[in-house]
Amino acid sequence: MVNFTQETTSATLTIGDRVIELPLVVGTEGEVAIDIRQLRQQTDGVAINGNLVPGGVISFDPGYKNTGSCQSEITYINGEEGILRYRGYNIADLAKKGYRFIDVAMLIIFGELPTAAERANFRDLLTHNELLDEDMRKFFDSLPPHGDPMAILSAAVQCSSLYNPELRAIDPADPEGFTLAAAKLLSKVRTIAAFSYKKAIGQPIRYPNPELDYVRNFLHMMFSIPNKPYHASETEVDALNLFLTLHADHEQNCSTSTVRMVGSSKANLFDSASSGISALAGPLHGGANIAVVNMLEKVSREETTVNELIGLAKSKKIKLPGFGHRLYKKYDPRARIIKQKVDKLLGELNHDAPLFTIAQQLEEIALTDDYFIAKRLYPNVDFYSGIMLRAIGIPVNMFTVMFAMARMAGWIAQWREEMLTPGAAIQRPRQVYTGAPERTIDWEMGI
Ligand code: SDX
Repeated sequence: MVNFTQETTSATLTIGDRVIELPLVVGTEGEVAIDIRQLRQQTDGVAINGNLVPGGVISFDPGYKNTGSCQSEITYINGEEGILRYRGYNIADLAKKGYRFIDVAMLIIFGELPTAAERANFRDLLTHNELLDEDMRKFFDSLPPHGDPMAILSAAVQCSSLYNPELRAIDPADPEGFTLAAAKLLSKVRTIAAFSYKKAIGQPIRYPNPELDYVRNFLHMMFSIPNKPYHASETEVDALNLFLTLHADHEQNCSTSTVRMVGSSKANLFDSASSGISALAGPLHGGANIAVVNMLEKVSREETTVNELIGLAKSKKIKLPGFGHRLYKKYDPRARIIKQKVDKLLGELNHDAPLFTIAQQLEEIALTDDYFIAKRLYPNVDFYSGIMLRAIGIPVNMFTVMFAMARMAGWIAQWREEMLTPGAAIQRPRQVYTGAPERTIDWEMGI
């Protein structure tokens, strides 16, 4: 954990009749934050325009565009320069060196890339915990057909912990217990994801195969049927490993902040992760990968054109899915890697590429358009990821589920960091009340 003591200097705030000093917090890469933890105490009773403010003033930052919620050692992003690192390693290196997703998940969760022995032990744990309790079959059987796989995933992750009550009480400071819980969650989320797909398309559930590694096992559960075995190609396995690696963590985004907020009430790992899945589902967040492919398909069916879409975005009738980012004001480094991979993948898998062509046209027009230039809107991770998943054969309604499977690594690490932060308090923002001033009930009107 980083010590919260490195104030190199301070900021001065003049407010009403008072001048106060606010310490600065400096991160490893020189990021600077103004520490306002004592702001209310320091401004208690300050006189503003002749009025005393009891309790002091607070900061106001809806959407947290300028607010740091924690210190974290997991992921570093420099959005101005388009840099993303997990535990100090550049995302492009982790993608290039051909690490498997589970290696990267271990890096994110435990802080270091695994040794061969650590990898083998963790893989054994994943294998031993890949089955769901057989009673969970009833849970899947009770769901309506064609249910949203993200809703199923969120409910099933929470439900699966009911069959392992010890998981609902793990001590994040106990390395053995935490490692087991992390392995169970990573392994079971993959089984649940595949089961939810089988449920949605009315095929029999396929059990995991202990002979297969993480990604191959997932593809087996998704695509094999009892009378037809399925063999994933090396190309598909590599592409899916890359997809999962690139989505594994992204510091304090909406779903991860949700996981940390829920965890801050001391909620257990499974309940916190389940809430993260719900947050990820929205179209402004992980759900954008579905919106992108739906949009590109509309263009390919000639129901709209790329120019019309750009026009709608500029007139603020739509937010162009897969474009823009809270942090990146340059090309999202993940989008660049995925775009390059898609180019290769479509060739290797002999897929025709109408959606990729349309996406590239859309990008080209957007990147030379004054509106997009002025607002620094570039493709984000979701812009090309759906095309990549589609090439592997993953159906559109499973795209956000794939994102959630990958992000589980980040959520597990971030949940633990939240739980182990010394002095961490329950997350509880304040508000500025703008409703009616105190009023009295008119008893004459009756009830
Ligand atoms: C993810 O945060 C993360 O790290 C998330 C993520 C992760 O790995 O966890 O990276 C994954 O969620 C990627 C983003 C997926 N969402 C989309 O692709 C949906 C489309 N994008 C936008 O809605 C938007 O860009 C967000 C949600 C991604 C970011 O929103 P912000 O930071 O709140 O920015 P904003 O909506 O306030 O936009 C700023 C300006 C606005 O114009 P003005 O009011 O200043 O005139 O840019 C415009 C917006 O109208 N704008 C867009 C646009 N995105 C922003 N205009 C057209 N099309 C867009 N896509």
